Parts: sequence; C-alpha cells; structure tokens
Amino acid sequence: MKDDATNISKITKLLKEAINYETQGKKEEAIESYKNAHKYLLEIAKNSKGEERKKRLSQAENVLKAYNSLKNVDINEDKINNGKKILQSLNIETPEIPNITFNDVAGLEDVKNEIMSKIIYPMRYKELSEEYDIEFGGGMLLFGPPGTGKTFIVKAIANEVKANFINVNPSSLYSQWFGQFEKNISLLFKAAYLLSPAIIFFDEIDTLVPKRSGNESDAAKRGVSQLLTEVGGLTSEKDKNIFIIAATNNPWAIDEAILRPGRFDVKIYVPPPDYEARKKLFELKLAKIKPVGNIDYGHLAEITEKYSGADIEFICKKAIQNVFMEVVKTGNKIPVNSEDLMSVIYQIKPSIDENMLNRYKMYTDA
Ligand SMILES: Nc1ncnc2c1ncn2[C@@H]1O[C@H](COP(=O)(O)OP(=O)(O)OP(=O)(O)O)[C@@H](O)[C@H]1O
Ligand SMILES: [Mg+2]
Repeated sequence: MKDDATNISKITKLLKEAINYETQGKKEEAIESYKNAHKYLLEIAKNSKGEERKKRLSQAENVLKAYNSLKNVDINEDKINNGKKILQSLNIETPEIPNITFNDVAGLEDVKNEIMSKIIYPMRYKELSEEYDIEFGGGMLLFGPPGTGKTFIVKAIANEVKANFINVNPSSLYSQWFGQFEKNISLLFKAAYLLSPAIIFFDEIDTLVPKRSGNESDAAKRGVSQLLTEVGGLTSEKDKNIFIIAATNNPWAIDEAILRPGRFDVKIYVPPPDYEARKKLFELKLAKIKPVGNIDYGHLAEITEKYSGADIEFICKKAIQNVFMEVVKTGNKIPVNSEDLMSVIYQIKPSIDENMLNRYKMYTDA
C-alpha cells in the first residue's frame, strides 16, 4: 500500500509536469510524462480491486487519450513537414491556402457554378455526395485566352475548400535524366497526399504534356504516361482530398490522351470578361484605394471589350500610378477619376482579338 501512495504522488507530479510542458510547447517531454503517468496508473490498478481499480483504469484511459492526441499532432506535423520537404526537393513553392475568394473573382458565373458542383460541394459535403453517388476525382482543365483569370480562380477554389495549393511549374518536374521525370511526378503526388486536402495545379499544362509529334524524348513519353497513371489512379477514399486542376491557353497543343475519361475530362472554357464582369473588375481593382473620384464604371466597361481581366488590372494600376506621381509632384491630393483610366485605355491595346476567340470557339465546338 505504501508503494501505491508513492506512485500516486509520482503520478500527480508527472501529470502536472505534462501539462506544464504542453503549455510551453515542449511536446516530447509532455509525451514522456504522460507515458510514465499511464504506466504507474496501470500498476496501481493492477494492485487494487473494485471501485478503486475502476477509478484508476478510467484515469489511465484519460491519460492515454492525452498522450495519443499529442502523438497524433506529432504524426500530422511530420506528414506536413515531409510533404513540404518533397516539394522543396522539386523546387516547388511551399504550398499554402491562398487568401483569394470567389468574391474576388469578377464574372465567370458559369465557371464558378461548374466548379462549385464538381469540386467545392463534393469536397465540402463529402458524405452527402456519397449518398447521392456524386462522382469526383480525376482532373479538371481550364482553358481560355490569356489573362482571363484561370490561375486566379484556381487559387480561389483552394481557398473555398481550404486546401493547400500546390502550384506546379512544369519545368520543375521535367528532367532528361533517365527515370527522373516519372519519379518527380510520383513524388509530387506523394507530397500531395501528405499535404491533403490539396489541389495540384498544373499551370500551362501544354508545356508539360505537349501533343505527341513522334519526336519527343523517351523521358517525355514516360513522364506523360506516369502523369496519366497518377491522375487516373485517384479513386480511393483518401484520394478524395486531392484535386488536380490544369490550365492552358493552348488547349489544342495538349496531348489528347490526357483529356480522356477519368483524366482531365472536365473541360471548362474561361471566357473573356463580359460587360458586367468588366464593370466589376474596375470596381474590384479600385476598391483598395481611398481617393476615388467620379468614376463611370458603365462607360469604362463599354469601352473595354476584348480587354482581359489582367488588362483591366493593369489599366487600374497604371492610372493609379499616374495620379500618384502627379500628387507627389504637386503636393495636391487629387482622386482617381474616369479620365485617368480612359487615358490609359486609349494607350494600350486589348490582349484578346476576334481570331483568338474564333479559335477557342472551334475547339469547344469540335
Ligand atoms: N475574372 C477576374 N476577376 C478578378 N481578377 C481577374 C480576373 N481575371 C483576371 N484577373 C486579374 O488578372 C490577373 C491575371 O489573371 P490570371 O493570371 O489568373 O490569368 P490566366 O487566365 O491564368 O492567364 P494565362 O493564360 O496567361 O496564364 C489576376 O491575378 C487577377 O488579378
Ligand atoms: Mg495562368
């Protein structure tokens, strides 16, 4: 019995210690203290009977819970760190959850709805989507003219589903070394599992998997087939936390094999901004500055047909900069007005033209 008394005081001390360590962020030490407290509690339980035994066992169980939860945090952190390390070795930026939301994306309502139903809701309401047998997985391809917000909207998706955004630059995966290209692709998917929920984003995918000409190197061929295997193989439960999205403004230059069912089979056209979207773009891109004067958003939207979202962003930045220079020179704090924006619009050409749009139309209709 004397032994038990010593053990009890030991346990009290260990548990106090564990909590102290935990609050100080000393996880290893806290884990060790919980482990020992658990051991002593089991010893006492073994020596006792009835109610006393029950009480000690239940205490031991609670200590075990505290121990396990700390251990699990540890395992999770290890996973995340390993995932990050793999990406570092591939020269891919450390992923994070972007801070862009769907509210920052002007227009593109159809695109947003499509993405909502194919990615965001199935990921957010997993059980419900299983009940309704909603399929998800595989990949999605966004295509459309340059500067229309493809990269931008993928960041917003990652934010909406609170997923890590892994932005893959094709050149960081490609390698001439025998077997290295395929290995890099497998490593990328491994990192995504460790960092899930995650979105793997292949920007400018046409450069990663160009249409086959018959002249490509063996490395390139094997890389493509490895990518197809990985994307096509995302079917198990844990894969449902990984999404693959690709973007391109040259969809006709992509290897067709990647567009087959089960791969990047959801193709979404991201069009240039329409009137309403352009109006919204001007509003959004001027929203952060304080001195805004009289701005006729409707007129600006009217005179900017075929200007992309990126063009409009540039126009706003340039106009703001011009006004700012003027203010610095004169010391006179003047607001940004419609005229300031219009004078920039007249100086730059839209980056989208009719030919380009026809080409996308032909590709979509085909
Ligand atoms: N619909 C939009 N809503 C809000 N901002 C937009 C929109 N479209 C473009 N932009 C702005 O333009 C910038 C460039 O867009 P983004 O890089 O997403 O274009 P992209 O379609 O990926 O072009 P590219 O085909 O050249 O890669 C974005 O960072 C964003 O600030
Ligand atoms: Mg882009």
